[in-house]
Amino acid sequence: MLLRTHTCGQLRAENIGQIVQLCGWVKSYRDHGGVVFIDLRDREGVTQVLFDPSDDPEMHKLARALRNEWVISAAGKVRARPAGMENPKMPTGAIEIVGLRLTVLNKSDTVPFEPDTSEKVAEETRLKYRYIDTRRSEMATALIMRHRIAKCVRDYYDQQGFLEIETPFLTKSTPEGARDFLVPSRLQLGTFYALPQSPQLFKQLLMVGGMDKYMQIVRCFRDEDLRADRQPEFTQIDVEMSFVTREDVMRVNEGAMRAICKLCGVPMPDPVPVVTYDQAMRDYGIDRPDMRFGMLLKDITELAKGSEFKVFSTVAAAGGIVKGLTVEGGAEFSRKQLDDLGAFCTSLGAKGMAWSKVDEKGELNGPVAKFFTGEKLAALKSAMGAKVGDCMVFIADKPAMTHKVLAALRSKLGAERRLYTADTWAWCWVIDFPLLEWDEQEKRWMAVHHPFTAPVAADVPLLKTDPGKIRAQAYDLVLNGTELGGGSIRIHDTNVQSQIFSALAIGPEEARVKFGFLLDALRFGAPPHGGIAFGLDRIVMLMLKRSNLREVIAFPKTASGSCPLSDAPSAVDDKQLAELDIRLVEKPQTPDVIHPHKVVEHHDR
Ligand code: AMO
Ligand code: AMP
Repeated sequence: MLLRTHTCGQLRAENIGQIVQLCGWVKSYRDHGGVVFIDLRDREGVTQVLFDPSDDPEMHKLARALRNEWVISAAGKVRARPAGMENPKMPTGAIEIVGLRLTVLNKSDTVPFEPDTSEKVAEETRLKYRYIDTRRSEMATALIMRHRIAKCVRDYYDQQGFLEIETPFLTKSTPEGARDFLVPSRLQLGTFYALPQSPQLFKQLLMVGGMDKYMQIVRCFRDEDLRADRQPEFTQIDVEMSFVTREDVMRVNEGAMRAICKLCGVPMPDPVPVVTYDQAMRDYGIDRPDMRFGMLLKDITELAKGSEFKVFSTVAAAGGIVKGLTVEGGAEFSRKQLDDLGAFCTSLGAKGMAWSKVDEKGELNGPVAKFFTGEKLAALKSAMGAKVGDCMVFIADKPAMTHKVLAALRSKLGAERRLYTADTWAWCWVIDFPLLEWDEQEKRWMAVHHPFTAPVAADVPLLKTDPGKIRAQAYDLVLNGTELGGGSIRIHDTNVQSQIFSALAIGPEEARVKFGFLLDALRFGAPPHGGIAFGLDRIVMLMLKRSNLREVIAFPKTASGSCPLSDAPSAVDDKQLAELDIRLVEKPQTPDVIHPHKVVEHHDR
């Protein structure tokens, strides 16, 4: 016999009069003048079931003995709730079930927390008892939506002629820029697999292998410091295509995001606006601009050069830049608020934050005021777009620092001054990234994306003269200031690839060791190709308006990379280590180190 006929989220007024049977967990029970009311919960919702002593005293007695989170099956007749007792907030709020039979399928110990109070519970506890936390509707909704988004993506790419092809997890390190997670090999002692940071090399090999349009919803592993939008293992929607231009890749993959938006009821412009990297840096100070609000950065370096304000003029004379933003209505900032903003800027590395308010007469006040009068005052206000009642803030520094600080300040002010709502959505593509960036510490050029990204053809000659000016055929899709995905057209020509390697100071030997198999493949008829990867976790997080990736992952890791539920990572048996020929070296314990610090050392035979 079926244990259930419906889920707990399914019954409506149309079902009145039917005999049904539901299964689920006791969310709550109330004894009202003899009648026991049970809120029965499963993944799909909650339904009210009642047991009346006058119907069946035995069943009623059993119902009175129930406790929260017991697992039961309840059969009964659907009826309309009495007038005035309907609950419009519940999808099943028009009906209730008059219980006829009750079966306890399993009891539960007292739970460490009630699922419905999870918001008030420490996250560590929620993660330790994740199987209780996922009984909560917000968590269940997140996992249901995650499934539906993944399915929608697969269907979309399938309709576009893509094949989902699996690539290996036990592989060689992929050069995506983060640290690898390593897996020791038992069969070849002394060697290690790396878990893939992305399927980058394999998807390119699939193109060489004639697979043409590939996609995969795939786990990627990166040993990097964790933040709200980063997990050590996360899921990519990974795509690669042959015989395409940058525009083809952008158009087809924008379509996948549009399908998701349609599913989630999120607006997305068609086409998505495109900004260049240079524009993004100029106006937002960052390559993932948050376009939900204005308050753009303004460059006043030229004005600063001619000013008496030493803080500005010395920076400008030394090749730095002076930029600022105008906070509308910011004249109301208190001294304390401005000091706090200044402290925020210095905490990020700025040397200070200069500010100036525009008073009712249109004059400035604040530290900068006395240096800008007459024509200079007019020019400053005009450059900054500042009017009466506004406050201008400025940072003078090297371009990278000025941009970093102002971008963070803009983001903070945008949120604090509520310049957008939870229903403001702003998309953009960012293109024309620089291909290479100078690494001051290592004193060499580094690939901004990865070393297989193709340069804009016209820029290739710059390799010899001005490598920093070479644009990449790369693109990022940005939503509300978060990078959802990024990719590029790849180099399919071995000559160009060697030139890029030499610009990156990767010698032929190093290139051979690191990605020889890709270089080989490029020599055997590699088609022009390109692709992209989106972060599925980030997409689900933004679509569901959650603030942390952990809220949309069934079993996530904490900021320290551990799983409170399984207790991973953990020590392993000496026997396991011996099989792998690995010996742990205990480092001397210093007072501020809580756990013995262990490094893995491999000893050769
Ligand atoms: P990239 O490194 O930009 O590109 O990664 C693509 C997308 O993956 C997501 N992402 C993450 N999500 C959660 N936690 C993380 N630690 C994390 N790291 C990245 C982001 C990001 O936009 N192989 C290239 C793609 C290509 O060129 O086709 C790649 O991996 O949303
Ligand atoms: P000072 O002349 O050092 O008293 O600085 C005057 C004002 O300029 C103070 O409000 C400082 O916070 C600010 N300031 C100092 N250095 C910088 C800088 N590099 N960029 C912007 N403002 C600065």
